[in-house]
Amino acid sequence: MNDVLKVVVDGLWRQGDKNLAVRLVSANGEPLPGWQPGAHIDVHLPCGLIRQYSLTGESTTESYLICVAQESASRGGSRYIHQTLRPGQTLTISAPRNLFALRDDGPVLLLAAGIGITPLYAMLLQREATGTPFTLHYFVKRREEAAFARELSHSLKHGVCLIHCSSEGKSPRQTLAATIPAPGDGERIYTCGPAGFMAAVRDVAAAKGWPEAQIHSEAFAPAAPVAASQQEETFTITLASSGEKWPVPANKSIAQVLQDNGVAVPLSCEMGICGACLTPVLDGVVDHRDTVQSAAEKTAATQHIALCCSRSHSRVLVIDL
Ligand code: FES
Repeated sequence: MNDVLKVVVDGLWRQGDKNLAVRLVSANGEPLPGWQPGAHIDVHLPCGLIRQYSLTGESTTESYLICVAQESASRGGSRYIHQTLRPGQTLTISAPRNLFALRDDGPVLLLAAGIGITPLYAMLLQREATGTPFTLHYFVKRREEAAFARELSHSLKHGVCLIHCSSEGKSPRQTLAATIPAPGDGERIYTCGPAGFMAAVRDVAAAKGWPEAQIHSEAFAPAAPVAASQQEETFTITLASSGEKWPVPANKSIAQVLQDNGVAVPLSCEMGICGACLTPVLDGVVDHRDTVQSAAEKTAATQHIALCCSRSHSRVLVIDL
Protein backbone atom coordinates (compact mmCIF):
# COMPACT_ATOMS: atom_id res chain seq x y z
CA MET A 1 0.00 0.00 0.00
CA ASN A 2 1.34 3.45 -0.88
CA ASP A 3 1.59 6.10 1.82
CA VAL A 4 -1.83 7.47 2.54
CA LEU A 5 -2.84 10.91 3.74
CA LYS A 6 -5.94 11.98 5.63
CA VAL A 7 -7.66 15.04 4.19
CA VAL A 8 -10.86 16.96 4.83
CA VAL A 9 -13.22 18.16 2.12
CA ASP A 10 -12.90 21.92 2.54
CA GLY A 11 -15.19 23.04 -0.25
CA LEU A 12 -17.21 21.87 -3.23
CA TRP A 13 -18.38 24.11 -6.02
CA ARG A 14 -19.64 23.94 -9.59
CA GLN A 15 -17.23 24.25 -12.47
CA GLY A 16 -19.44 24.46 -15.53
CA ASP A 17 -22.81 22.76 -15.38
CA LYS A 18 -21.59 19.18 -14.97
CA ASN A 19 -18.37 19.29 -12.99
CA LEU A 20 -17.65 19.66 -9.28
CA ALA A 21 -14.42 21.16 -7.97
CA VAL A 22 -13.32 19.68 -4.64
CA ARG A 23 -10.78 21.35 -2.39
CA LEU A 24 -8.99 19.04 0.04
CA VAL A 25 -6.96 20.20 3.04
CA SER A 26 -4.76 18.25 5.42
CA ALA A 27 -6.71 16.71 8.32
CA ASN A 28 -3.88 17.13 10.85
CA GLY A 29 -2.66 20.58 9.88
CA GLU A 30 0.64 19.26 8.46
CA PRO A 31 1.37 20.59 4.97
CA LEU A 32 0.35 18.25 2.16
CA PRO A 33 3.23 17.02 -0.05
CA GLY A 34 4.21 19.35 -2.89
CA TRP A 35 3.29 18.45 -6.44
CA GLN A 36 3.93 19.46 -10.03
CA PRO A 37 1.34 19.84 -12.80
CA GLY A 38 0.45 16.48 -14.33
CA ALA A 39 0.35 14.77 -10.92
CA HIS A 40 -2.67 12.79 -9.78
CA ILE A 41 -3.84 11.35 -6.49
CA ASP A 42 -5.79 8.22 -5.65
CA VAL A 43 -8.92 9.12 -3.72
CA HIS A 44 -10.27 6.35 -1.47
CA LEU A 45 -13.99 6.99 -1.35
CA PRO A 46 -16.06 5.86 1.64
CA CYS A 47 -18.18 3.76 -0.74
CA GLY A 48 -15.16 1.48 -1.16
CA LEU A 49 -13.99 2.74 -4.56
CA ILE A 50 -10.52 4.13 -5.32
CA ARG A 51 -10.40 6.67 -8.12
CA GLN A 52 -7.58 8.66 -9.70
CA TYR A 53 -7.99 12.41 -10.17
CA SER A 54 -5.50 14.93 -11.53
CA LEU A 55 -4.50 17.75 -9.25
CA THR A 56 -5.43 21.07 -10.76
CA GLY A 57 -5.23 24.78 -10.06
CA GLU A 58 -2.13 26.43 -8.56
CA SER A 59 0.50 23.90 -7.54
CA THR A 60 1.82 26.34 -4.96
CA THR A 61 -1.23 26.40 -2.65
CA GLU A 62 -1.42 24.38 0.56
CA SER A 63 -4.62 22.61 -0.44
CA TYR A 64 -5.26 20.15 -3.25
CA LEU A 65 -7.89 20.87 -5.90
CA ILE A 66 -9.51 18.20 -8.07
CA CYS A 67 -12.43 18.56 -10.46
CA VAL A 68 -14.79 15.69 -11.23
CA ALA A 69 -17.17 15.42 -14.18
CA GLN A 70 -20.61 13.95 -13.68
CA GLU A 71 -20.37 10.85 -15.85
CA SER A 72 -23.62 9.47 -17.21
CA ALA A 73 -21.91 6.07 -17.39
CA SER A 74 -20.36 6.45 -13.93
CA ARG A 75 -18.65 3.40 -12.51
CA GLY A 76 -19.64 4.80 -9.11
CA GLY A 77 -16.88 7.28 -8.25
CA SER A 78 -18.24 10.39 -9.92
CA ARG A 79 -21.77 9.56 -8.73
CA TYR A 80 -20.56 9.37 -5.13
CA ILE A 81 -18.67 12.65 -5.39
CA HIS A 82 -21.58 14.47 -7.02
CA GLN A 83 -24.38 13.06 -4.88
CA THR A 84 -22.91 12.20 -1.48
CA LEU A 85 -19.61 13.98 -0.78
CA ARG A 86 -20.01 16.95 1.55
CA PRO A 87 -17.74 19.61 3.09
CA GLY A 88 -16.24 18.42 6.37
CA GLN A 89 -16.05 14.79 5.30
CA THR A 90 -12.70 13.05 5.86
CA LEU A 91 -11.11 11.11 3.01
CA THR A 92 -7.97 9.07 2.53
CA ILE A 93 -5.82 9.89 -0.47
CA SER A 94 -2.44 8.80 -1.81
CA ALA A 95 0.51 11.15 -2.09
CA PRO A 96 0.66 12.76 -5.56
CA ARG A 97 2.15 10.59 -8.29
CA ASN A 98 3.28 12.15 -11.58
CA LEU A 99 3.44 10.18 -14.81
CA PHE A 100 2.54 13.18 -16.97
CA ALA A 101 5.08 15.79 -15.91
CA LEU A 102 6.17 18.64 -18.15
CA ARG A 103 9.56 17.45 -19.41
CA ASP A 104 11.36 20.75 -19.88
CA ASP A 105 10.88 24.47 -20.32
CA GLY A 106 10.34 24.39 -24.09
CA PRO A 107 7.15 25.61 -25.76
CA VAL A 108 4.08 23.41 -25.28
CA LEU A 109 0.83 22.80 -27.08
CA LEU A 110 -1.83 21.73 -24.55
CA LEU A 111 -4.85 19.86 -25.96
CA ALA A 112 -7.69 19.07 -23.56
CA ALA A 113 -11.13 17.58 -24.06
CA GLY A 114 -13.84 17.62 -21.40
CA ILE A 115 -12.57 16.97 -17.89
CA GLY A 116 -9.12 16.31 -19.39
CA ILE A 117 -8.66 20.03 -18.75
CA THR A 118 -7.65 19.37 -15.12
CA PRO A 119 -3.93 18.53 -15.50
CA LEU A 120 -3.55 20.95 -18.40
CA TYR A 121 -5.09 23.87 -16.48
CA ALA A 122 -2.43 23.30 -13.79
CA MET A 123 0.25 23.28 -16.51
CA LEU A 124 -1.15 26.52 -17.96
CA LEU A 125 -1.02 28.23 -14.56
CA GLN A 126 2.56 27.11 -13.99
CA ARG A 127 3.61 28.25 -17.46
CA GLU A 128 1.91 31.60 -16.93
CA ALA A 129 3.69 32.00 -13.55
CA THR A 130 7.11 31.15 -14.98
CA GLY A 131 6.66 33.15 -18.18
CA THR A 132 7.09 30.22 -20.56
CA PRO A 133 5.08 30.13 -23.80
CA PHE A 134 2.12 27.80 -24.28
CA THR A 135 -1.07 27.38 -26.28
CA LEU A 136 -4.10 25.62 -24.81
CA HIS A 137 -6.94 24.31 -26.98
CA TYR A 138 -9.86 23.14 -24.84
CA PHE A 139 -12.63 21.12 -26.50
CA VAL A 140 -16.07 20.83 -24.91
CA LYS A 141 -19.46 19.82 -26.26
CA ARG A 142 -21.24 22.95 -24.98
CA ARG A 143 -19.72 26.19 -23.70
CA GLU A 144 -21.69 25.90 -20.41
CA GLU A 145 -19.93 22.68 -19.48
CA ALA A 146 -16.38 24.08 -19.62
CA ALA A 147 -14.58 23.87 -16.25
CA PHE A 148 -12.47 26.87 -15.19
CA ALA A 149 -14.02 28.91 -18.02
CA ARG A 150 -14.00 32.12 -15.97
CA GLU A 151 -10.35 31.68 -14.99
CA LEU A 152 -9.38 30.81 -18.55
CA SER A 153 -11.08 33.92 -19.91
CA HIS A 154 -8.70 36.20 -17.97
CA SER A 155 -6.07 37.74 -20.19
CA LEU A 156 -2.89 35.70 -20.31
CA LYS A 157 0.60 37.20 -20.49
CA HIS A 158 2.58 34.31 -21.85
CA GLY A 159 0.20 32.09 -23.75
CA VAL A 160 -3.06 31.66 -25.59
CA CYS A 161 -6.20 29.77 -24.57
CA LEU A 162 -8.95 28.90 -27.02
CA ILE A 163 -12.17 27.06 -26.11
CA HIS A 164 -13.80 25.10 -28.96
CA CYS A 165 -17.42 23.92 -28.68
CA SER A 166 -18.89 21.09 -30.70
CA SER A 167 -22.29 22.80 -30.41
CA GLU A 168 -20.80 25.76 -32.31
CA GLY A 169 -19.43 23.59 -35.11
CA LYS A 170 -15.93 23.24 -33.65
CA SER A 171 -15.68 19.60 -32.63
CA PRO A 172 -12.24 17.99 -32.46
CA ARG A 173 -13.03 16.18 -35.70
CA GLN A 174 -13.74 19.48 -37.46
CA THR A 175 -10.97 21.50 -35.82
CA LEU A 176 -7.96 19.42 -34.80
CA ALA A 177 -6.27 19.53 -38.20
CA ALA A 178 -6.35 23.34 -38.09
CA THR A 179 -5.30 23.63 -34.42
CA ILE A 180 -2.24 21.38 -34.53
CA PRO A 181 0.53 23.08 -36.52
CA ALA A 182 3.76 21.49 -37.70
CA PRO A 183 6.05 20.93 -34.69
CA GLY A 184 8.09 23.91 -33.57
CA ASP A 185 11.68 23.54 -32.42
CA GLY A 186 11.70 21.52 -29.18
CA GLU A 187 7.93 21.84 -28.88
CA ARG A 188 5.90 19.16 -27.08
CA ILE A 189 2.23 18.24 -27.07
CA TYR A 190 0.47 17.36 -23.81
CA THR A 191 -3.02 15.96 -24.23
CA CYS A 192 -5.68 14.65 -21.86
CA GLY A 193 -9.26 13.62 -22.53
CA PRO A 194 -11.27 10.64 -23.77
CA ALA A 195 -9.24 7.90 -25.46
CA GLY A 196 -10.79 8.65 -28.88
CA PHE A 197 -9.80 12.31 -28.60
CA MET A 198 -6.21 11.50 -27.67
CA ALA A 199 -5.97 8.97 -30.50
CA ALA A 200 -7.21 11.66 -32.93
CA VAL A 201 -4.60 14.10 -31.55
CA ARG A 202 -1.85 11.53 -32.14
CA ASP A 203 -3.09 10.78 -35.67
CA VAL A 204 -3.27 14.44 -36.69
CA ALA A 205 0.06 15.26 -35.02
CA ALA A 206 1.79 12.31 -36.71
CA ALA A 207 0.43 13.45 -40.08
CA LYS A 208 1.91 16.92 -39.41
CA GLY A 209 5.33 15.46 -38.63
CA TRP A 210 5.33 15.38 -34.82
CA PRO A 211 7.68 12.66 -33.48
CA GLU A 212 5.91 10.23 -31.14
CA ALA A 213 8.41 11.04 -28.36
CA GLN A 214 7.20 14.67 -28.29
CA ILE A 215 3.56 13.74 -27.64
CA HIS A 216 2.55 13.04 -24.02
CA SER A 217 -0.89 11.94 -22.91
CA GLU A 218 -2.72 10.75 -19.86
CA ALA A 219 -5.82 8.57 -19.78
CA PHE A 220 -8.19 8.15 -16.89
CA ALA A 221 -10.24 5.30 -18.29
CA PRO A 222 -8.97 2.00 -19.61
CA ALA A 223 -8.61 1.93 -23.41
CA ALA A 224 -10.58 -1.29 -23.52
CA PRO A 225 -12.06 -3.52 -20.85
CA VAL A 226 -9.14 -5.30 -19.21
CA ALA A 227 -10.26 -8.88 -18.88
CA ALA A 228 -8.39 -12.10 -19.32
CA SER A 229 -9.93 -14.31 -21.96
CA GLN A 230 -9.91 -18.04 -21.64
CA GLN A 231 -7.61 -18.26 -24.68
CA GLU A 232 -4.75 -16.56 -22.81
CA GLU A 233 -1.56 -18.58 -22.45
CA THR A 234 -0.25 -19.44 -19.00
CA PHE A 235 3.25 -18.06 -18.40
CA THR A 236 5.67 -18.02 -15.48
CA ILE A 237 6.42 -14.98 -13.36
CA THR A 238 9.81 -15.02 -11.60
CA LEU A 239 11.04 -12.74 -8.83
CA ALA A 240 14.62 -11.64 -9.49
CA SER A 241 15.38 -11.19 -5.76
CA SER A 242 14.52 -14.70 -4.59
CA GLY A 243 14.15 -16.72 -7.78
CA GLU A 244 10.64 -17.77 -6.69
CA LYS A 245 8.39 -18.52 -9.65
CA TRP A 246 4.69 -19.17 -10.15
CA PRO A 247 2.44 -19.85 -13.14
CA VAL A 248 0.06 -17.04 -14.15
CA PRO A 249 -3.09 -18.71 -15.50
CA ALA A 250 -5.56 -17.11 -17.93
CA ASN A 251 -8.04 -16.12 -15.24
CA LYS A 252 -5.58 -14.31 -12.96
CA SER A 253 -3.46 -11.18 -13.23
CA ILE A 254 0.22 -11.20 -12.29
CA ALA A 255 -0.70 -9.03 -9.30
CA GLN A 256 -3.25 -11.59 -8.07
CA VAL A 257 -0.75 -14.44 -8.40
CA LEU A 258 1.87 -12.46 -6.47
CA GLN A 259 -0.62 -11.54 -3.73
CA ASP A 260 -1.82 -15.15 -3.49
CA ASN A 261 1.79 -16.02 -2.72
CA GLY A 262 2.29 -13.34 -0.09
CA VAL A 263 4.11 -10.76 -2.24
CA ALA A 264 3.00 -7.18 -1.50
CA VAL A 265 1.96 -5.40 -4.70
CA PRO A 266 1.07 -1.69 -4.64
CA LEU A 267 -2.30 -1.54 -6.38
CA SER A 268 -4.75 1.26 -6.96
CA CYS A 269 -6.84 1.41 -10.15
CA GLU A 270 -6.25 -2.24 -11.15
CA MET A 271 -7.04 -1.17 -14.71
CA GLY A 272 -3.68 -0.09 -16.08
CA ILE A 273 -4.39 3.63 -15.82
CA CYS A 274 -2.70 4.88 -12.64
CA GLY A 275 0.86 3.52 -12.63
CA ALA A 276 0.85 2.36 -8.99
CA CYS A 277 1.92 -1.19 -9.90
CA LEU A 278 4.57 -0.41 -12.56
CA THR A 279 7.55 -2.68 -11.92
CA PRO A 280 10.86 -2.99 -13.79
CA VAL A 281 11.22 -6.05 -16.02
CA LEU A 282 14.63 -7.76 -16.18
CA ASP A 283 13.91 -10.50 -18.72
CA GLY A 284 11.10 -11.55 -21.04
CA VAL A 285 8.78 -9.86 -23.54
CA VAL A 286 5.93 -7.88 -22.01
CA ASP A 287 2.44 -7.93 -23.52
CA HIS A 288 1.61 -4.35 -22.46
CA ARG A 289 -2.07 -3.73 -21.74
CA ASP A 290 -1.88 -0.55 -19.69
CA THR A 291 -2.68 2.93 -20.93
CA VAL A 292 -0.42 4.67 -18.45
CA GLN A 293 2.84 4.21 -20.38
CA SER A 294 3.54 5.81 -23.74
CA ALA A 295 4.28 3.81 -26.86
CA ALA A 296 7.92 4.92 -26.50
CA GLU A 297 8.07 3.61 -22.93
CA LYS A 298 6.52 0.32 -23.99
CA THR A 299 9.25 -0.20 -26.59
CA ALA A 300 12.18 1.28 -24.62
CA ALA A 301 15.25 -0.79 -23.78
CA THR A 302 14.31 -0.65 -20.08
CA GLN A 303 10.76 -1.86 -19.62
CA HIS A 304 8.19 -1.59 -16.85
CA ILE A 305 5.14 -3.80 -16.54
CA ALA A 306 1.75 -2.94 -15.08
CA LEU A 307 1.26 -5.99 -12.86
CA CYS A 308 -2.49 -5.44 -12.62
CA CYS A 309 -3.31 -5.96 -16.28
CA SER A 310 -0.36 -6.76 -18.56
CA ARG A 311 0.76 -10.25 -19.49
CA SER A 312 3.72 -11.89 -21.21
CA HIS A 313 4.54 -12.82 -24.79
CA SER A 314 7.42 -14.97 -23.53
CA ARG A 315 7.00 -18.15 -21.48
CA VAL A 316 8.91 -16.57 -18.58
CA LEU A 317 8.95 -13.00 -17.28
CA VAL A 318 11.51 -11.92 -14.69
CA ILE A 319 10.56 -8.84 -12.68
CA ASP A 320 12.63 -6.69 -10.33
CA LEU A 321 10.90 -7.66 -7.10
S1 FES B 1 -2.87 -0.59 -10.28
FE1 FES B 1 -3.08 1.15 -11.56
S2 FES B 1 -1.80 0.64 -13.28
FE2 FES B 1 -1.85 -1.16 -12.08
